[in-house]
Amino acid sequence: MMNTSAASGAARPAPITVTITGAGGQIGYAAMFRIASGALFGPDQPVALRLLEIPQGVKGAEGAALELTDCAFPLLASVDIATDPDQGFDGSNVALLVGSRPRTAGMERADLLAANGAIFGPQGRAINDHAADDVRVLVVGNPANTNALIAQRNAPDVPAERFTALTRLDHNRAVGLLAEHTGAAVADVHGVTIWGNHSTTQYPDLSHATIAGRAALDVVGTDWGRGAYIDRVANRGAEIIEVRGGSSVASAANAAIDHVHDWVLGTANEATGADGVAPWTSVSIPSTGAYGIPEGLIASVPARSVDGEWRVVEGLEIDEFSRARIDASVAELAAEREQVAALGLI
Ligand code: NAD
Ligand code: LMR
Repeated sequence: MMNTSAASGAARPAPITVTITGAGGQIGYAAMFRIASGALFGPDQPVALRLLEIPQGVKGAEGAALELTDCAFPLLASVDIATDPDQGFDGSNVALLVGSRPRTAGMERADLLAANGAIFGPQGRAINDHAADDVRVLVVGNPANTNALIAQRNAPDVPAERFTALTRLDHNRAVGLLAEHTGAAVADVHGVTIWGNHSTTQYPDLSHATIAGRAALDVVGTDWGRGAYIDRVANRGAEIIEVRGGSSVASAANAAIDHVHDWVLGTANEATGADGVAPWTSVSIPSTGAYGIPEGLIASVPARSVDGEWRVVEGLEIDEFSRARIDASVAELAAEREQVAALGLI
């Protein structure tokens, strides 16, 4: 492991160690500068970065580390580059599992299971054996939900709920596209939920959403809100691939930062909108059976973070349309679980 930079942080809290896998890749690059500048934990909390790569990706990580030095971030305590997961996760408080193979045009997430699944077992074991006791894991690399399940099952000593997957990007897309369609301010949109898998079966649900206090489905109409809108959000990843010629990068890094920021520091748990409801976000967390989602699946649900733990928003009414959509996406997750079990990955 190479230490490429060091800065002292007199009279500051001890650094929080953040491991980024695939740090030589695109999302890693987009995330690390914001993390080093304080976007994860705020302006007073130093961070120590661990960049974990495979040998082919090390040069990218080394180059990024040089640039981090050149930014002279006051909060950046150190940058270490590793190719051995045991070293990369040593003492990690936060692990962003980004490194994997991105989907390319025409490829479905199911195609990625075999290619990427094998990465997450060894990483889960390394987290189990070497990370800090309070480690929090966010899986970004696709298929994110099932990769998170693989890592979790290979880390039996880490509390299961510390393994999460990214559906905050879908959530942010759902909010952004709703605001764009209606001309509303993003800050006036509340109560959107992404259910299920980070895939095209996901269900962006407006049943409980409000726009400046008005029921969103009344504002946009159910034809659009339960039709074209769902397709647009669920296929936004493919839309980005088609338009950019590569999968989403900055928005994915931004969503990963939002997820960890809110997990550690809490969501805004006071009612701030005209609907009088405390806002929530969408996170993929291990199911405890809420909303009929089979226990253990890492599925996206509406949640708030309280005292550093995700809590599912309870008591939302699920109508027939929503039930069918949730069940379909959850069935895909259950099938992925069976596939990786058959491959011996869990
Ligand atoms: P990228 O190809 O630019 O970078 C991936 C990096 O991972 C590469 O540098 C590669 O060397 C490294 N890597 C591969 N195997 C590794 C391993 N075992 N350990 C450590 N590093 C390893 O890809 P990207 O654009 O940064 O995307 C990364 C992943 O994120 C892809 O799977 C992509 O599909 C996924 N993604 C997820 C979401 C989401 O919302 N969940 C959004 C966008 C992208
Ligand atoms: C996304 O949603 O942008 C990513 O998961 C990339 C993809 O393959 O869709």
